Amino acid sequence: MQHIVQLKGKRKITALTAYDYPTAKIVSEAGVDVILVGDSLGMVVLGYSSTHFVTLDDMIRHGQAVMRGNSKSLVVIDMPIATCDTPEKAIASCRKVCEETGAHVVKIEGKPESVRAVAQTGIAVMGHTGLKPQEVQSYKIQGKDDISRKKVFEEAVALEQAGAFAVILECIPSSLGLEITQKLRIPTIGIGAGSLTDGQILVLHDILGFSSDVRPRFVRKYAHIDKEISQATHHFIKDVISGNYPSEQESYS
Ligand code: KIV
Repeated sequence: MQHIVQLKGKRKITALTAYDYPTAKIVSEAGVDVILVGDSLGMVVLGYSSTHFVTLDDMIRHGQAVMRGNSKSLVVIDMPIATCDTPEKAIASCRKVCEETGAHVVKIEGKPESVRAVAQTGIAVMGHTGLKPQEVQSYKIQGKDDISRKKVFEEAVALEQAGAFAVILECIPSSLGLEITQKLRIPTIGIGAGSLTDGQILVLHDILGFSSDVRPRFVRKYAHIDKEISQATHHFIKDVISGNYPSEQESYS
């Protein structure tokens, strides 16, 4: 975790989500600094309409799979809705997640008092401010007017003071991303927060081109995996129906 903190001002921090063994293995071996087992898994791989349905058990199951695939990245487990509402609850929930996954780093949305309580137990906490999906019904850029800007700025400062080792800044104007990055001693990792934060995080399935329905402007697609999967499926169906699969070499004698 300290090696991530020390990257501030030296080079940009890279972070991606992963929710399972094979993708964690690939992105870790490829050299991403941080893997976040995000509660976005609720939408991305479980098919829910929001993160609000994700449970602690979901995070533990997916966290365990990612830990088995990870080789050299820092794995951060996201704490789902209602698990960190009070400092006492946050300590119990974060301890359970860490004990059962073997990860030692969690992410909490907002809630500086819960962050403080958990950080004091020795568990490393990543903060998260700006757009906080657990608190909203629809996704909109935050910090556009003076009141909202001040609120996001103050929460980022409060998260640092509470002991967070880094903070995610989600969906805020670039100028606010820069202002917070200059103010904090801990690294800021942006998603839709412009190019001037200390690092960038994106949802792996978005950059792979898995989820074609909703695509925020900050998502850059590096692949079109949906087309690859569809093509492979079509070929398989064709080969089975035509008798082209399996061949003799693909069969036991
Ligand atoms: O759950 C998630 O994937 C996240 C990222 C968007 C930062 O919190």
